[in-house]
Amino acid sequence: MKEARPSFRSRSPGATRAAAAAFGRLATPGTVICLRGPLGSGKTVFVQGLARGLRVGRGQQVRSPTFTLLHEYAGRLPLFHWDLHRIRSAEEWAALGWEEVCDGPGVAVLEWADRAGSALPRDRVEVTLGIAGPRERMLTLRATGRHSRALLRAWCAAHPL
Ligand SMILES: Nc1ncnc2c1ncn2[C@@H]1O[C@H](COP(=O)(O)OP(=O)(O)O)[C@@H](O)[C@H]1O
Ligand SMILES: [Mg+2]
Repeated sequence: MKEARPSFRSRSPGATRAAAAAFGRLATPGTVICLRGPLGSGKTVFVQGLARGLRVGRGQQVRSPTFTLLHEYAGRLPLFHWDLHRIRSAEEWAALGWEEVCDGPGVAVLEWADRAGSALPRDRVEVTLGIAGPRERMLTLRATGRHSRALLRAWCAAHPL
């Protein structure tokens, strides 16, 4: 069976947040979302939407965790926000204990997931963001296992592409 890779053209930061919020509403314990794409492509904007969908309180602002690799937010489920921008090697990443976090009862989202090499949870939603114009971003989505396939299917049903 050919793997479905839905893609979605976002025309504003709000549209990216809305798409991500739908993931937040549908996420279940163990959901992992990996974000790839250049600086300014909207990875942090996506995490803001995801947090909103998980009902993270407005007092807990989502920013690029510049000096912190991991931020935790309390929502309907705990949200673990990794930013791997400063990781220089897969070994550095492997030493951080990410498996415990990703195997826990929360939702994990990773910016700059490419820095982790292949050391990533097996079952995850991959979101690749591309810059298509000043306010346009292309989001391409892919699931790598059972949990993520079910989530992506539910997202496609809930979110008009
Ligand atoms: N359609 C869009 N979706 C997401 N961000 C957008 C969009 N159009 C413009 N932007 C802008 O692009 C920037 C994305 O920044 P950010 O999310 O921090 O990127 P990254 O985390 O990938 O480096 C923000 O300034 C945002 O306002
Ligand atoms: Mg960012």
